[in-house]
Amino acid sequence: MKGPIVRMSGVGMWVPERVLTNSELEKMVDTSDEWITTRTGIKERRIADEKTTAADMGARAGLAALDDAGMAPEDVDALIVATATPDRLLPATACDVQAMMGAKNAVAFDVWGACTGWLYGINIAQGLIGTGQARNALIIGTEKLSSIVDWKDRSTVVLFGDAAGATVVVPAATDGRGVVATYMKSDGSLGDLLFRPPARGLNPSIPIDVVALGEGGNTIKMAGPEVFKSAVRSMCEAAEIALKDAGLTAGDVDLLIPHQANIRIIEATAKYAGIPMDRVWVNIDRYGNTSSASIPVSIYEARACGRIQAGSVLLLVAFGSGFTWASAVVRW
Ligand code: COA
Repeated sequence: MKGPIVRMSGVGMWVPERVLTNSELEKMVDTSDEWITTRTGIKERRIADEKTTAADMGARAGLAALDDAGMAPEDVDALIVATATPDRLLPATACDVQAMMGAKNAVAFDVWGACTGWLYGINIAQGLIGTGQARNALIIGTEKLSSIVDWKDRSTVVLFGDAAGATVVVPAATDGRGVVATYMKSDGSLGDLLFRPPARGLNPSIPIDVVALGEGGNTIKMAGPEVFKSAVRSMCEAAEIALKDAGLTAGDVDLLIPHQANIRIIEATAKYAGIPMDRVWVNIDRYGNTSSASIPVSIYEARACGRIQAGSVLLLVAFGSGFTWASAVVRW
């Protein structure tokens, strides 16, 4: 097996201070702390205020990751932002983040991979660095999901939260540490199971008609149980393929870091992969589903509390709207 092309040299995160608990949600929609906890594992999530944009959050996480890597914003060659909640449709959120951070020497662009976007970004960065087009990359996952949920729809509003996470990747050394395997996949035929209609309806030539968009306007629409089954199937596949590609087995994995969508999806993925829950990172109880931010935020927290050490083997697995799914094995 050839050695890794890139390694992660810095990690950062940013979450809003405002905590929205399940008991507060009980007063907003017909739900209960007991239902949310048992069906999803979520106890609370963070909600950004009106003035805070996805770009603001991404820039804060990005600066923290650069600081961790010992780099300045001007040092960044490629600035990749994964988001499903852009503040505006033009320009790319990455360009807004670039301006906020002062990363004036970077090429900046977005990746639309929903919850899988950050892992797609890692793959793209690996390609850019591997072909010599960039010396480093800053990959940010930032989401203001509170701005696209239907606050009257109990089946989705309880699931999502706001957060941003970021990592810096640089060329790997020859010590075997870095991103040792990656896998990416999509299936657009399942796009109608989890989507967000455009503000002008599905036909942009027709004037805005909220009725045509259905209850809740252009907010997230989801067929929960179907998404659940696909998520488990795809994450299991992704975990298996990346591990095999890395020449490793479940027993070699120090920490499985799955996308935090539902504790039952996490448990099913871990069980199939043969990794006991004491080697699985879980923070869904505190943040809910933060889409593309979920894995970099998890890496940040796991490292901060000592669960990731030099040489630790991480298995990262994500799934999202598209459908999209991906995985990576990292020797830290
Ligand atoms: N509070 C109370 N009851 C709720 C509820 C809520 N917040 N949301 C849904 N329910 C109700 C439903 O209306 C349904 O009631 P009914 O039986 O009277 O029709 C019942 O709970 C069961 O609903 P169902 O959708 O079958 O529940 P579930 O066990 O599949 O859990 C999800 C629902 C959304 C939590 C689960 O399907 C899920 O997590 N899916 C994947 C979502 C996801 O991860 N999306 C992002 C992917 S990146």
